[in-house]
Amino acid sequence: MNILYIGSGFVGACSAAVSASSGHHVLVYDIDEKKIQMLGSGDRDIIETCLYEKGLGDLLVRNSERIQFTIDYTKVEAFLDNCDVVFMCLPTPEIGETGESNLTYYFAAAKKLAQALSKRNQGKQEKYVVIVNKSTVPIDMVDKTQEIMDEAGVKNYGVVSNPEFLVEGKAVEGSIKPNRVVIGAWKQKDFEIMQKIYQRFYDDPNVQYLEINPKEAAAGKLLANFTLFNKLAVCFDVIGRTCETFANLDYENIRKVLASDPRIGSWGLYDSLYAGGSCFIKDSRSLAYQLQTAGTQINLVKETYLANKRQLKTFIERAEKEAKFDWKDKKVALLGVAFKRDTNDIRNSPSIDIVKFLFDKQVKKINCFDPAAISMFKNIFPESEQIKYVSNELEAVKEAEVIIIATDWPQFRGLADILLNENNKSLIMDGRRMLQHRYSDLQQAGFEIIAVGSPFIKGL
Ligand SMILES: NC(=O)c1ccc[n+]([C@@H]2O[C@H](COP(=O)([O-])OP(=O)(O)OC[C@H]3O[C@@H](n4cnc5c(N)ncnc54)[C@H](O)[C@@H]3O)[C@@H](O)[C@H]2O)c1
Repeated sequence: MNILYIGSGFVGACSAAVSASSGHHVLVYDIDEKKIQMLGSGDRDIIETCLYEKGLGDLLVRNSERIQFTIDYTKVEAFLDNCDVVFMCLPTPEIGETGESNLTYYFAAAKKLAQALSKRNQGKQEKYVVIVNKSTVPIDMVDKTQEIMDEAGVKNYGVVSNPEFLVEGKAVEGSIKPNRVVIGAWKQKDFEIMQKIYQRFYDDPNVQYLEINPKEAAAGKLLANFTLFNKLAVCFDVIGRTCETFANLDYENIRKVLASDPRIGSWGLYDSLYAGGSCFIKDSRSLAYQLQTAGTQINLVKETYLANKRQLKTFIERAEKEAKFDWKDKKVALLGVAFKRDTNDIRNSPSIDIVKFLFDKQVKKINCFDPAAISMFKNIFPESEQIKYVSNELEAVKEAEVIIIATDWPQFRGLADILLNENNKSLIMDGRRMLQHRYSDLQQAGFEIIAVGSPFIKGL
């Protein structure tokens, strides 16, 4: 089949690569010239500098004959003459802190597409085309997409909602072996076209292939993300907090008690300083906004959001409150700026707020390290007298008076051995419990530790 992707971010690029590997012919359009050049470079390293997703570079290089990247809309127009499906993979960020989705990227792309579709096949519009909303969108988005198409005089088309459930860091793996595919459509014809697009998953007994209506699909995506976000908030604000409050509660032991109940499961029970990323927060806020606009109470959704915010604030303020640490003129090592491991995505990364906090507190210097996301972070905080980017964790912690672990990169687990060989006894702020297996060794050696999920650990 011939598939057009509009938007080549995490979702568009990964999903397009998987479509090409399924044998489809794929054109990817984006307005970001640099991104298009890098993704279409045919060079694995360049691709992964642009989008750090395991396996993406290899997949794109291996399937380069079936996938093209362009910023040239005339190529899109020509492609539409014979295009079966258009995947809309546009950003839908929150407007300020309102919860409302910013649909301007989507509308701009959809209006341009509608104009082009109305002219396909020299205006005869013979080719049936399905427009698929892969972006996470409000529940009634299908109606809006239809309106845009109808206003432009587009004929012979269907609108489908096919929310994306990929997990960043495992996006390619997850797209090749999804646990579910959700197709929301009103028409049987559209279901049949999507079955051909996803033939390999439709035929796979291990994949839950769900055919529902487009509003259910859009709502299902928002509710799934809220449910996951809520579980994280419970972990941070209730389970972790309980272990911080009472002595002799080992967080890992408590987790085992909970996770051994299959109804609870282990996902989301890893305590952390914050749930960041581009989806959980914005999608839960969007759900709240839509419910509130419809006149429904949103206390739990709202509180989940606040609990997450509270977690970061509580964590960072513990240095002053519990260790009596004065930040002014201190040297800080900040380990991890990606919002989580295995990605270079820094959207809603806790490190952004942490750096702002450190600037406010007039620290002397921040030595910052991340294995993948430094170039992204530099766009927000360029290198300066106050913030330096170093090439490994060893360099970062040298002479630091406080070490903040903000991302769960596995290599940070080895940090205890490095620290135990250092003379200076920095305050350790472990926002991911990365060193929990060595807390007692570090304490014996005189380190003070503030960790999510533990009371203040005083050095001996
Ligand atoms: N990132 C995730 O983990 C994830 C997971 C599931 C769903 N989603 C949803 O998928 C959507 C896309 O997310 P993403 O992470 O890929 O976003 P992204 O910001 O990484 O990528 C979006 C791309 O769209 C491009 N774009 C903007 N306006 C355009 C236009 N008019 N025409 C063509 N391209 C345009 C941007 O240049 C960018 O490359 C969002 O709605 C998001 O909520 C994201």
